[in-house]
Amino acid sequence: MIARSGDIQPSLFDDVYASYKDFVNPPLARFMKLAGAPVEMRASGCRIWDEAGRSYLDFCGGYGVFTLGHMHPVVVDAVRAQLETMALSSRVFFNEKMGALAAALAKLAPGNLQITFFSNSGTEAVEAALKLARLSTKRTKIVSTQNAYHGKTMGSLTATGRDVFKDSFEPLIPQFEHVVFGDLEALDRALLDAAAFIVEPVQCEGGVIIPPDGYLRGVRDLCDAHGALLIADEVQTGLGRTGYVWGVDYESVVPDIMTVAKGLSGGVVPIGATISKLDVWMRAFGKSPLMHTSTFGGNPLACSAGLAAIKVLRDENLVQRSRMLGDYLLAKARELQAKVPDVIEHARGRGLVVGIELTSEGYGGVIIPECLKLGMTAAYTLNQQKVIRLEPPLIVTQEEIDEAMDIFAQGVTKAKEKLGRLAVR
Ligand SMILES: Cc1ncc(COP(=O)(O)O)c(C=O)c1O
Repeated sequence: MIARSGDIQPSLFDDVYASYKDFVNPPLARFMKLAGAPVEMRASGCRIWDEAGRSYLDFCGGYGVFTLGHMHPVVVDAVRAQLETMALSSRVFFNEKMGALAAALAKLAPGNLQITFFSNSGTEAVEAALKLARLSTKRTKIVSTQNAYHGKTMGSLTATGRDVFKDSFEPLIPQFEHVVFGDLEALDRALLDAAAFIVEPVQCEGGVIIPPDGYLRGVRDLCDAHGALLIADEVQTGLGRTGYVWGVDYESVVPDIMTVAKGLSGGVVPIGATISKLDVWMRAFGKSPLMHTSTFGGNPLACSAGLAAIKVLRDENLVQRSRMLGDYLLAKARELQAKVPDVIEHARGRGLVVGIELTSEGYGGVIIPECLKLGMTAAYTLNQQKVIRLEPPLIVTQEEIDEAMDIFAQGVTKAKEKLGRLAVR
């Protein structure tokens, strides 16, 4: 916006808001403004600073992207060094960093998962997994779960289990069936002649839903019995988020295909990865190596970030940290729940993904903006607006958790003051 002399100078916020409203997404711009969202200017560790220099504890954590916090120096240095030599791949020559990251992932992944296809986001990682499963098994049916979140491109969207995102795009891809998450009998019936079952070890966007113990083992057994492949969608649960390196490690299950994204870039460069067993991959692409490709997938910048992120995860013991601090955060959330059961119905979590389920969706509309006002980010889960997710970086400290939960408690008090007792909904 150009200001004429004599005009009141628009603030940076006004400028950015106007550009969102006019050129990005008008209704989202209005919604974000109403919620009190400022402009992000810089970030470091668990904090983000806005245009007025105010700082916010980031307990939304980019929906699980910032496992290492913002701008981890080891990752930033690795990306900067890569930028000095070659940013994107020629695609004609071998790319050293892609080979190295694929090898590192084979080492880190459960069991004999070995071959990695690289892309640039979670939904692309899922698309690759679905195509791989269909080609590898020569079957077409895919089983997924109700309330799942796998992304919003057509294949991933079809696998996603929330109608509001899907209905407008019907007809979607045929031969998908959704079963209740946690229900092995329903899965057994659905798996007849299926190519694959895709499942999240914890349904994060579904409202941090944790399946009953033994579910993932049972899933593995049923997939084996039916000759169907097991796709574990670890886009959000992977790389330490749940207090295990992978969400499936909770039950020592080895999937046939695994999708990874979010934390794999160390929060610095977008990345997606689909890791599969060698025989599964060879049956699909052994004779047609260019059947599924991505121009930017596996670029040197993203792979340098990935290599550095895996090193930090190990060097800083972040998986163990996630488990310990996750227990602490959950205990604090449960303490608060016990004090305000009229507003908070339930608190649950695994590692550093904690869901706070409200008695009524309406409370979130006050709690989230109030938290922001007091210096903390929090957000709804995408499929369940009654649940506020707390998903801080794995480098978070106990003091930062105390500070965040203090702010959250003030948000709850404000919601009670403003709304009184809402009908349970
Ligand atoms: C389990 C899971 N799969 C896939 C996706 C889609 O990832 P992206 O938004 O990077 O496409 C998400 C995003 O939240 C996710 O949580």
